[in-house]
Amino acid sequence: MHMNPDDRKKRSAHAALDYLTDGMIVGVGTGSTVNHFIDALGAVRNRIAGAVSSSEASTTLLRANGIRVLELNDVGSLELYVDGADEADRNRYLIKGGGGALTREKIVAQAAKRFVCIADDSKLVEVLGRFPLPVEVIPMARSLVARELTARGGQPVWRSHTFDDRRSHATDNRLSRFTTDNGNDILDVHGLQIIDPPALETELNQIPGVVTVGLFAHRPADVLLIGTAAGVEKI
Ligand code: 5RP
Repeated sequence: MHMNPDDRKKRSAHAALDYLTDGMIVGVGTGSTVNHFIDALGAVRNRIAGAVSSSEASTTLLRANGIRVLELNDVGSLELYVDGADEADRNRYLIKGGGGALTREKIVAQAAKRFVCIADDSKLVEVLGRFPLPVEVIPMARSLVARELTARGGQPVWRSHTFDDRRSHATDNRLSRFTTDNGNDILDVHGLQIIDPPALETELNQIPGVVTVGLFAHRPADVLLIGTAAGVEKI
């Protein structure tokens, strides 16, 4: 049966509602799959006490759905974090950061007792790395970190806005730079075959200037809900 990717995303997002408990504060990730989750959460907003958000974009959408957004510093640990992924394997290791929100996502994931990852089946892979690995870097360290990544066999590309975004700011080249919510740059690292995700995460975390590596291996998802044409596969 054919089903478009967005419907498969929606299916996985709706399945995550089963993990809500009354009165809880939910950690909320970022991206188009999570946007479906936020819309669904809006319909049951009276059941939850609020949300901790991983990005400015999700905060805006949560508020538009009438959901209270709380600061992580004010709530301590969370029972549940729901977020998407750019790639996932069957060990529940993830690549994240396609939307550039990886640092706050990793922080909220770490604060959560249970991390439920929602994705359509195009994201499930045997070996991570076909999706370029996002690495958030302090701007002054960008070329240093790029050289370190190249020495490890990767091909880092400095992330900029898409051509369409740039066209609307055509008179100001500085606006083509993609900046994270934390004011940093992103290097998207192509050409990696990530055989040992925890080891690579540890190694890249050691490079001075790296803020966050988009590999979620030391804190993987606890549950993967994969939306397929046939239903939702739980891993
Ligand atoms: C944002 C992320 C997203 O979870 C990831 O990019 C998946 O996005 P989408 O649900 O739109 O496919 O890590 O930083």
